Amino acid sequence: QTGSFTFDPGFLSTAACKSSITYIDGDKGELLYRGYPIEQLAEHCDFLEVAQLLLKGELPNAAEKENFANIIKNHTMVHEQLTRFYQGFRRDAHPMAVMVGVVGALSAFYHDAMDISDQEHRDISANRLIAKLPTIVAMAYKYGAGQPFMYPRNDLDYAANFMHMMFAVPCETYKPNPVLTRALDRILILHADHEQNASTSTVRLAGSSGANPFACISAGIACLWGPAHGGANEACLQMLEEIGDVSRVGEYIKRAKDKNDSFKLMGFGHRVYKNFDPRAKLMRETCHEVLNELGLHDDRLFKLAIELEKIALEDDYFVEKKLYPNVDFYSGIVQRALGIPTPLFTGIFAMARTVGWISQWNEMIADPEQKIGRPRQLYVGAARRDVKPIGQR
Ligand code: SDX
Repeated sequence: QTGSFTFDPGFLSTAACKSSITYIDGDKGELLYRGYPIEQLAEHCDFLEVAQLLLKGELPNAAEKENFANIIKNHTMVHEQLTRFYQGFRRDAHPMAVMVGVVGALSAFYHDAMDISDQEHRDISANRLIAKLPTIVAMAYKYGAGQPFMYPRNDLDYAANFMHMMFAVPCETYKPNPVLTRALDRILILHADHEQNASTSTVRLAGSSGANPFACISAGIACLWGPAHGGANEACLQMLEEIGDVSRVGEYIKRAKDKNDSFKLMGFGHRVYKNFDPRAKLMRETCHEVLNELGLHDDRLFKLAIELEKIALEDDYFVEKKLYPNVDFYSGIVQRALGIPTPLFTGIFAMARTVGWISQWNEMIADPEQKIGRPRQLYVGAARRDVKPIGQR
């Protein structure tokens, strides 16, 4: 019994770790960050408030919120030498490949905050990562587009500054649309943390060896890239484009049910949620708001996604296996409407999840009982045997 939550004591023997950051009830479709429902945070807070909640355990007051926003604003630029890393990549490099490399390379620039036993050092590297990830993601986009990097602007808030670095060009004044930047801010909140998912577990395992935070976050980015995890939003949009029309939905539902077909309905199903992923509902609402703001009421992919969700949720296979839309089902459509190129979707997921990864990494490092991670195995290989001379093999 911890707080108001109860669980079978035997659970701890199988749990990877104890954490007080995020709670998911997969059967109820409930998601809490430090006890606050995701629905309330998405409505009443912005991403940096949620970042402080995840990092420190409490929502900031007005003064704390402003102070943190100023700290982040003062670290959004990257070292000028780091910009040269981009020149080493092909222009058509996937942004996640660039991010794995560039974020890991931050370890080579910040020797002044690498003592992970010192909470102040951990705070400094955390603030740098939160501040610089948007700059690094936007630079990956600009490099691929063959456009000049846009420096951050301190007069803009976190989401608006990212949109500026992505879409502004030197010869024009870029004016962010507040409805669109608020939508992006909410997308970041929805992706900020999610308990012990694959990439968070990767960050914790890397961090348990004492590796520096930049290297650990780079490992998390690499894991998130997979299409079964953070890459699903990009894969889901490609799937919707391939289906193309409602008349073909049945064919793909049939394929998803066919055990001999490796095809899975992207954006559907979840390791934990056996009910609606609360983030999917909020993402669908955000999608609606953005499309309305842009006058795209009849966006064909959004209409196709709505129909696909309806048909799948009426199908026995999906009902029996408790497969519902997850966070990735609508996030690709709304990011596409925001003008974000498909290959950047997972980069934005990584930008948001960096806050969760750092919070979880901090919690692990601060745990006095923490030891290096060493997952056990069930050995099913050959019994002990002796080597034969090569002539007898
Ligand atoms: C994220 O862990 C997290 O929290 C992750 C995440 C986060 O915020 O960090 O929430 C982000 O990764 C969301 C998931 C994004 N991935 C996708 O949308 C890819 C499509 N989904 C599937 O690959 C799948 O649902 C997984 C990988 C997400 C979960 O796979 P599991 O653990 O096998 O799911 P399950 O045990 O509930 O599956 C039950 C059955 C299985 O068939 P049987 O073995 O019972 O015959 O349903 C099948 C699965 O094969 N199934 C699907 C399916 N998802 C599961 N069949 C068709 N289409 C699907 N999408």
